[in-house]
Amino acid sequence: MNADYILQMRAISKSFPGVQALSNVDFNLRKGEIHALMGENGAGKSTLIKVLTGVYKRESGETTLNGKPIAPRSPEEAQQIGISTVYQEVNLCPNLTVAENIFIGRYPRKRGFIDWAAMNRRSEQLLARLELHVDVTEPLSHYSVAVQQMVAIARAVDISSGVLILDEPTSSLDTNEVRQLFAVMRKLRDEGMGIIFVTHFLDQVYEITDRITVLRNGELVGEYETSELPRTELVSRMIGKEWNPDDHIGDKKDDGNKGEVFLHTTDLGKKGSMESVNLSVHKGEVLGLAGLLGSGRTEIAKLIFGIDKADSGVLTIDNDMISSMYPQKAVQQGLGFTPEDRKIAGIVGELTIRENIVLALQARQGLFSFIPVRKQREIAQKYIDLLQIKTPGTEQKIENLSGGNQQKVILARWLTTQPRLLILDEPTRGIDVGSKLEIRKLILELAASGISILFISAELEEMVQCCDRVIVLRDRNQIGELQGSEMTEQRIMQMIAEGAEQHGETSGIGA
Ligand SMILES: Nc1ncnc2c1ncn2[C@@H]1O[C@H](COP(=O)(O)OP(=O)(O)OP(=O)(O)O)[C@@H](O)[C@H]1O
Ligand SMILES: [Mg+2]
Repeated sequence: MNADYILQMRAISKSFPGVQALSNVDFNLRKGEIHALMGENGAGKSTLIKVLTGVYKRESGETTLNGKPIAPRSPEEAQQIGISTVYQEVNLCPNLTVAENIFIGRYPRKRGFIDWAAMNRRSEQLLARLELHVDVTEPLSHYSVAVQQMVAIARAVDISSGVLILDEPTSSLDTNEVRQLFAVMRKLRDEGMGIIFVTHFLDQVYEITDRITVLRNGELVGEYETSELPRTELVSRMIGKEWNPDDHIGDKKDDGNKGEVFLHTTDLGKKGSMESVNLSVHKGEVLGLAGLLGSGRTEIAKLIFGIDKADSGVLTIDNDMISSMYPQKAVQQGLGFTPEDRKIAGIVGELTIRENIVLALQARQGLFSFIPVRKQREIAQKYIDLLQIKTPGTEQKIENLSGGNQQKVILARWLTTQPRLLILDEPTRGIDVGSKLEIRKLILELAASGISILFISAELEEMVQCCDRVIVLRDRNQIGELQGSEMTEQRIMQMIAEGAEQHGETSGIGA
């Protein structure tokens, strides 16, 4: 065994019914390195991590930590020997306080009693290291997904002594939070920790990692120095064929020539949320909502879909005034909504892929016109093929799919209803590069067929590629709008940064 390695995994295999998730995979982690684990959705990244941390039992192979064989039988056992993990889906306890979540299972004690004061103080210190200043005595559920993710990270960082595993920790963080996390990761690396980092953001891989291991279909493709593997090479290895990103997305449709207005709002608002939303979405148009986390993007989506009840303003659909919007009505009106947090508002874990896909369609048709199971299978299979959902079949439980593939199922659910307006809140979060482009292409095709799309994404590159027009938000205000050649990543960033003086104007602001 090589002394530079803190962790070595040899010939690891793991299968599930109908799926060989890992076959003979090797993985080597050095002391003091940040190591990217890369691969398409369903490649086996999370499974490898779960084998390492004792969530799953490997079927063959061996793992050594500092040269000694280990076989943890649970994540708790893995933690005890110095391996801690932040999983892809936040799995903390929303009803406990922030501090309790950080110290759950290892509460500090004084004379036999839990020392709450010490716990709160230490939580504050830990979070301060991540530049996060929140009231640690509040329930975790009071905070955004991003804050919850940071809390999970703080907990893992505190527990970990040798190996820290981060499985897509950044997908719900904004630029600033990512920067803070990276600062902490660098510090831990310099102290000698080995960090395994799973992400689908290539920029982040090249910014922070030292080495890369690529998996494909449960097999090891190779192990590389990040600086020696150009991006296109990396993607080619992940997808198993030559890759040229420029080939993949078609031209955006012509500017101008949009259809008539499909949905329109005048001063639509809810106290304490977005107070005055003014926008129109045309038929066949992709309208983007850009802004930082908390800028009001999701709030607008929720107001329009009726998840949040508006208490002022007007909403019209196809020139009909909608007096009181609620989700069922939205669906009847031809609206679809894929929420940003698939765990809360999206998937029903115990149901099959088929059931999850037909859910919205069935709801729209009403309970009395039950869609025959054979027909359901046909529909599900069609979308499995279209979106390349990686699964042994329509009857697989959705909770057994990889994170990115679950996201695709949610998208499929709304596509089946043939909506007239589709609200997509971070539809490509957690989705691999190849499928991301497929989804962007699909968005453009849907729009070309006359469907209106309200598109929210933290990735500005994607916004610029897909949108006809972008509304820029800041601090729950619409601060401007860009389209055509003015709609560039730099311009959007600049508007978000400059903020309020351009309130309410349309294009052509500034130099
Ligand atoms: N508990 C399970 N039961 C059945 N199949 C599973 C289970 N967990 C994972 N799989 C399957 O194993 C394969 C690998 O999944 P894994 O979650 O490791 O992918 P991943 O590389 O993490 O993908 P993503 O980027 O989407 O998170 C997938 O085909 C998945 O459907
Ligand atoms: Mg995963």
